[in-house]
This record gives sequence, C-alpha cells and structure tokens, in this order.
Amino acid sequence: MADQTPAPITLADQAAAPFRSAAGAAGGASVDAAAHMLSDMFLSLTNGRATNVASVTQAGDQVIDAIAEIGIAPWMDTVRAYHEGTFQHCLIVTGLTTLFGQKTGMRRRDVALLTMVGLLHDIGKARIPLEILDKQGPLTEREFAIIQSHPVIGYDYLLAQGGFPPSVLSAVRHHHEYLDGSGYPDGLSDAQIDDVTRILTICDIYGALIEERAYKKPKTREEAIRILLEMGAEGKVETGLVQAFAS
Ligand SMILES: [Fe+2]
Ligand SMILES: [Fe+2]
Repeated sequence: MADQTPAPITLADQAAAPFRSAAGAAGGASVDAAAHMLSDMFLSLTNGRATNVASVTQAGDQVIDAIAEIGIAPWMDTVRAYHEGTFQHCLIVTGLTTLFGQKTGMRRRDVALLTMVGLLHDIGKARIPLEILDKQGPLTEREFAIIQSHPVIGYDYLLAQGGFPPSVLSAVRHHHEYLDGSGYPDGLSDAQIDDVTRILTICDIYGALIEERAYKKPKTREEAIRILLEMGAEGKVETGLVQAFAS
C-alpha cells in the first residue's frame, strides 16, 4: 500500500507564498532583494533546481549599500517588521556579518564575502520540516540530529552548483563548529576553523539571541554580548572577535 503520510511542510512552502514588500520602509528595497533571493534558493534547493553566485552577489550588494547608507538599526527594524522565523534569522545574520566587515574597515570584496555567508549559512534548512525548525519545546534526539544536518545539506547543494568560493562553502558547512572541538558536523577545532567562519558563528549566535520568537523573549544587546564573552572564556568562540563585534 502507498504511504499516505503527507510530505512535511518546509521553508520552501513558506518561500512559495508571496510576502509583503518592504519597499516603503528604511532599506526596504535591499531587504526585499535579499528575501527574494533567499526564497528562490530555498525553493531551488528543495526542487533540485540550479542557482548561481551572481544572484547572491547582486542581493548582497544591495544589502551592503543599504547598511552603509542608513545604518544597521533601521535596517534590522525593517527586517523584523516584514519577516519572521528562519527568513528573519537569515536576514538578521546577514546584516550582522555585513556590519562586522564594515566597522572593522574591511575592503568591499571582503565585506561582500561576509554578506554572502550570512545570506547562505542556513540554506540547508530548506529541507528541514518546519515543525522541527520552529518547534517550541525541547527537541528529541532524533529531531536534533535532523536539525544538525542543515550545514551539510547547504554545503552539498552549493558545492554542486559550482562557482561559490571555497571560503563560502567552508563557512556554510562549519558555522556550528566551536574552537574547542565541541561543535558539528566535523568536530573541527582551533586552526582548522578559518576567520570567515569564526565571524559568521559569532554573528549567528548573536542573531539567534536577539531575535524575537513567539516562545522566547529576545536578549538585549548587552546580554547577548555577555553570553558570547562567556562562550569566549569557555574556549568556544574567539574572544577578540567578540570584542571587535561589540565595540
Ligand atoms: Fe545554522
Ligand atoms: Fe543560523
């Protein structure tokens, strides 16, 4: 007998629904461009369609210009007003990685790399059922294992497309690794983790802490930085980068 279990709802289903344009809000055109790029890619990954570096670069360029022009706070307000859940998370992390590059005086090319890894880091979540991704209670061991597959799903997809820089592939695969070797998927440590990945990991954690979800209150900026500094003291993330991020 055929399996009657309905297919789980994923980000691709969310991405397929039209979302409200942020065009009138501060930095809205860049938020729209990044959100459309993300939704296209969530759909492409799920349907086995191709994607390309140019579309990510184009969306990233608009984000970089918008944040340089209006600053991070109004850009984040627009993201929060128009997007929720994983979409919001990816956009917030993109804003943070972009800001990190800009405020530490990186060249445009290096900022663009950080913007790209922010946009792409959780692309593998396209295949994780939303009921697991957005679950409010604690995850079972099996659900946690499913969530933990997202960096490799994203890496495999981008690798298969060709043309994405090795540092982007590496950051997507390794953004949940910790310097003390306690992360996943490969249990890398110290020198095995490059700078782009280290910066992305810090922005990813900070983004998750300050995000508002139905089931958790957002941390303040100060609380989030304190938590990251504690993780630095435990040897999980690089304290110097947290300090540069916080300054
Ligand atoms: Fe992730
Ligand atoms: Fe993330």
